[in-house]
Amino acid sequence: MRLGCVVPWFWVFRVLVLKSPASAAGAWRRATFSQHVELDENGKYHLRWKHDNTTITFEVEVETRGYVGLGLSPTGSMAQSDMVIGGVANGRPYLKDYNTLNFDGKLNEDHRQDYRLEYGMENNTHTIIAFSRDLNSCDHKDKIITDNTVRVIWAYHPEDVKQDRPQYHLTNRGRKSLYLLNPVVDAFIPNDVLVFNIRHYNVSIPTKDTTYWCQIFKLPNLTKKHHVIRVEPIIQKGHEHLVHHILLYQCHSILNDSALDVGHECYNSNMPDDFFNCESIILAWAIGGKGFSYPADVGLSLGTSADPVYVMMEMHYDNSNYREGYVDSSGLKLLYTPVLRKYDAGVIETGVWVSLYHMIPPDMSSYISQGHCSMECLQEALSQEKASGIHVFAVLLHSHLAGRALRIRHFRNDVEQPLLAHDDEFDFNFQEFRYLKEERVLLPGDSLVTECQYNTTFRSNMTWGGLSTKDEMCLSYLLYYPRIDLSRCESLPEIAPQLKFIGVKEIYHPVM
Ligand SMILES: *[C@@H]1O[C@H](CO)[C@@H](O)[C@H](O)[C@H]1NC(C)=O
Ligand SMILES: *[C@@H]1O[C@H](CO)[C@@H](O)[C@H](O)[C@H]1NC(C)=O
Ligand SMILES: *[C@@H]1O[C@H](CO)[C@@H](O)[C@H](O)[C@H]1NC(C)=O
Ligand SMILES: *[C@@H]1O[C@H](CO)[C@@H](O)[C@H](O)[C@H]1NC(C)=O
Ligand SMILES: *[C@@H]1O[C@H](CO)[C@@H](O)[C@H](O)[C@H]1NC(C)=O
Ligand SMILES: *[C@@H]1O[C@H](CO)[C@@H](O)[C@H](O)[C@H]1NC(C)=O
Ligand SMILES: *[C@@H]1O[C@H](CO)[C@@H](O)[C@H](O)[C@H]1NC(C)=O
Repeated sequence: MRLGCVVPWFWVFRVLVLKSPASAAGAWRRATFSQHVELDENGKYHLRWKHDNTTITFEVEVETRGYVGLGLSPTGSMAQSDMVIGGVANGRPYLKDYNTLNFDGKLNEDHRQDYRLEYGMENNTHTIIAFSRDLNSCDHKDKIITDNTVRVIWAYHPEDVKQDRPQYHLTNRGRKSLYLLNPVVDAFIPNDVLVFNIRHYNVSIPTKDTTYWCQIFKLPNLTKKHHVIRVEPIIQKGHEHLVHHILLYQCHSILNDSALDVGHECYNSNMPDDFFNCESIILAWAIGGKGFSYPADVGLSLGTSADPVYVMMEMHYDNSNYREGYVDSSGLKLLYTPVLRKYDAGVIETGVWVSLYHMIPPDMSSYISQGHCSMECLQEALSQEKASGIHVFAVLLHSHLAGRALRIRHFRNDVEQPLLAHDDEFDFNFQEFRYLKEERVLLPGDSLVTECQYNTTFRSNMTWGGLSTKDEMCLSYLLYYPRIDLSRCESLPEIAPQLKFIGVKEIYHPVM
């Protein structure tokens, strides 16, 4: 959402005039906001916001009588950031636009003040201020707000700003990645919704950085069709950083109750054979996500012969501090209902097939891998079942620690369409299904390319495709309706050109 920056000269020198209702005593009304998040762990800093095509409006409500700060940062640290700081002093709200672009990293007041104070108030315990700005303020000292991941930084202080320079903010600060411009989806959940929890039980987390833990579960025994309409994570308290992502796979119908064993580490030699019968991903959650609601006319079908009976939950534990003694019982909560919706949802996994053939050389600041969902593959599945196409409504972009930007390119008969999804500021610690602004129809004759851009500047070894967070993946999950019989559409990089690229001149053993 890059808007033009041709600004008539007289706007540039426009002086910010506070709207009169901005006084604490004035007759302003608190606006209503479509989005809300608690930025700190103790629920003291609330951020609310809403946006239209050109502007974004924030309201911060913080348990302090001093100043509050909000910033947009390239990395999550305070350096190189766009900051706004405000509060209420002597009954009057104040607000100023700053940046930390200088080498010293200190706050500098922006020459152009692009944040507009809307209102402010404080009582004995809390400060509330609301302010807005253009998504692209046309000031190079402000960050352009796009639909990429945005690393929001926050701070507050017990005292107001004095002598025009905010005091150091002590420990009351932090960061959180958000999608500020995500479409808001009305998540209507009826009162009589049914709940089914899928949880691991007291898994002892090994003392190593990456563990994939798998267990097969049986879905509720239903005598008629139901729709799952929302999925929420159940994260054991204190394990918010340990549980990195959760995938739910549908298992083949040949399984029976003998598959319902205890959990096992997945992808190692002790893994039960039954796990290989669970291949199609039907749900995905990743760290930072809150939960996911299906669109109002779509649900995940349960209870018919085509539906999953057994599912495997794969949980990725990221114990990067090698801490001993974690015992975890996290999982997923499915909200489902017998009141059927019009369409069944499906998921397609596309991108680079996870294998050692996926290679990323070291010391590359921008290396791109591509995974193809070919025209033939899509065409075969679509023309047999849905010649009128399928509607993609949400996607999850997935790579590991070296991933910087991901995008899904969409071609129709080899003519490129607008990007299906992209994130140029990918954050490994914040991955969840994101709604598309508009549903995208995939027709026979279409193909997709998932592109992942990696930065391996500080790596001295090759990075390979694999399951550990230090290995890489390049995947996207497409949530769509109506469901067709296609769960994976991926490609393997060709090995010979890659070996040539990294300087291999001769191969003595066949590479297989
Ligand atoms: C915002 O943009 C979309 C498409 O880009 C357009 O359909 C819509 O009318 C615009 N809304 C407003 C309020 O300008
Ligand atoms: C002060 O404002 C906060 C935030 O709106 C509110 O939750 C709290 O109840 C208020 N306290 C009093 C004493 O009114
Ligand atoms: C998990 O362990 C705790 C503490 O030992 C125990 O209270 C709880 O019942 C266990 N849960 C299950 C499902 O075994
Ligand atoms: C599922 O429910 C049906 C009807 O209540 C019952 O007949 C059947 O035995 C149940 N199956 C299992 C495996 O519990
Ligand atoms: C259940 O599956 C196991 C192996 O997957 C098989 O050995 C067993 O016979 C099956 N039991 C029934 C009742 O079908
Ligand atoms: C790659 O990462 C290094 C180290 O974090 C950084 O200095 C460099 O700017 C990055 N390159 C790109 C293209 O993002
Ligand atoms: C790189 O690979 C070598 C050889 O396998 C290994 O000894 C070394 O520890 C690796 N370095 C890193 C940083 O992983």
